[in-house]
Amino acid sequence: MNFHTRKWIKPQDLNPNQTLFGGRLLEWIDEECALYSIIQLENPKTVTKYMSEIDFRSSAKQGDIIEIGIEVVKFGSASLTLKCEVRNKMTRETIITVDKIVMVALDENGKPKPHGKTKVEFVKDRLEDK
Ligand SMILES: CC(C)(COP(=O)(O)OP(=O)(O)OC[C@H]1O[C@@H](n2cnc3c(N)ncnc32)[C@H](O)[C@@H]1OP(=O)(O)O)[C@@H](O)C(=O)NCCC(=O)NCCS
Repeated sequence: MNFHTRKWIKPQDLNPNQTLFGGRLLEWIDEECALYSIIQLENPKTVTKYMSEIDFRSSAKQGDIIEIGIEVVKFGSASLTLKCEVRNKMTRETIITVDKIVMVALDENGKPKPHGKTKVEFVKDRLEDK
């Protein structure tokens, strides 16, 4: 799993218990998956279709640093299935794992559009191919 993005927990990210608000974390995960999928599928109209059960296993407090990891599970026809893990860099605990997140590439009419991708590509290699 590639842990690409780090976040710093700030006052505006907290719940009334003074720990990381779950909705904020889901927003970060969704954004991370969208960015990853848009780049992999080379389609800016890529949306979240499905997210499997989520289980908040531990939390984070103000000032903690967390990291968000994404891994490809499967390339489909118009879909890309990902899994995600978020870890607390301070406590080294897993905050959340999401086993299945399905992102779908769309055409100009908002219908699923086959992306033709079968494996993870690196932008560096794409540039070298040009
Ligand atoms: C994305 C959307 C166009 C898909 O429409 P659909 O009628 O389900 O399309 P399909 O049945 O052709 O499925 C498209 C792909 O999604 C996958 N998929 C659909 N429903 C799924 C589900 N419940 N779980 C997992 N994968 C699913 C299909 O397997 C298919 O994958 P493939 O192309 O690799 O074979 C439509 O559901 C939609 O617009 N949803 C709203 C998306 C959105 O706006 N998200 C932002 C948050 S609100």
